[in-house]
Amino acid sequence: MAKPFLEDSSRLDRQVESLRLRRSENKMDDARKVLDEVFDRRTLLAVYKFMTSETIDTIDFPISTGKEGNVFRVTTHEGEFLALKIFRINTATFHSIARYIEGDPRFKGLSGSKRKLIYAWTVKEYKNLCRMQEAGIRVPEPIDFHENLLLMEYLGTPEMPAPAIRNVELEEPEEVYKEILKFMKLAFKKAELVHGDLSEYNILWHEDKPWIIDCGQSLTADHPNAEEFLKRDIKNINRYFRSLDVKIKSEEEILRSIKGVKK
Ligand SMILES: Nc1ncnc2c1ncn2[C@@H]1O[C@H](COP(=O)(O)OP(=O)(O)O)[C@@H](O)[C@H]1O
Ligand SMILES: [Mg+2]
Repeated sequence: MAKPFLEDSSRLDRQVESLRLRRSENKMDDARKVLDEVFDRRTLLAVYKFMTSETIDTIDFPISTGKEGNVFRVTTHEGEFLALKIFRINTATFHSIARYIEGDPRFKGLSGSKRKLIYAWTVKEYKNLCRMQEAGIRVPEPIDFHENLLLMEYLGTPEMPAPAIRNVELEEPEEVYKEILKFMKLAFKKAELVHGDLSEYNILWHEDKPWIIDCGQSLTADHPNAEEFLKRDIKNINRYFRSLDVKIKSEEEILRSIKGVKK
């Protein structure tokens, strides 16, 4: 009898080996290393399949290596850059998302399987990005997802991924603050979402504008924890912009404005 596909290690190894890493970049070794060290074989196979069936031509380099996943820059066959976020399937990831998942009807029945939960989490980030974008919030355009992989618009220049606002000297921080408050309101009123992890770390500076990223944990506005997370987002944003000497609004005023009567 033929071995189940996933146990056929030599075949998998060959496929993983043939993942097209960009050879012209001297950062190629980083990509290889991160892929090998961080991801389980099934994820690598998913990357392989994503590459053969999709538009990705090469994996260029890791932009970020976090506890819960990594983001790589990739290049399409047309030579366009995209960002590929790969969620890690491990216990730490599972624990950190558990509290967002309890109480969300979209995750009912999935609590037993780590893998299925992470897949559902990936779809959730994809859908949240779609909803935010439709509501007029500046987010990277979601392109596609497959298992624990999320493909989206790349923010940055050919040389450098976009920095987080915490690493940029903003010329007009007051304007940026106002725009972030506007985004929070659009998210709540139009997309009916609360970001849930908004801070100077998850706002990138690209083409002289702020972009919101990392929407996996975003909660629907009617979620029992939505208000708690909204207040935390407001606190974070106020804390950061206060440190830049921006005249900030009180938390209560912002909350009232965001939650104000729906038109
Ligand atoms: N679309 C993107 N374009 C460029 N860089 C990105 C993009 N998405 C994420 N990044 C980079 O990857 C980092 C991690 O992504 P993020 O979605 O915040 O995941 P997490 O914080 O959960 O690891 C970001 O801080 C940013 O530096
Ligand atoms: Mg982040």
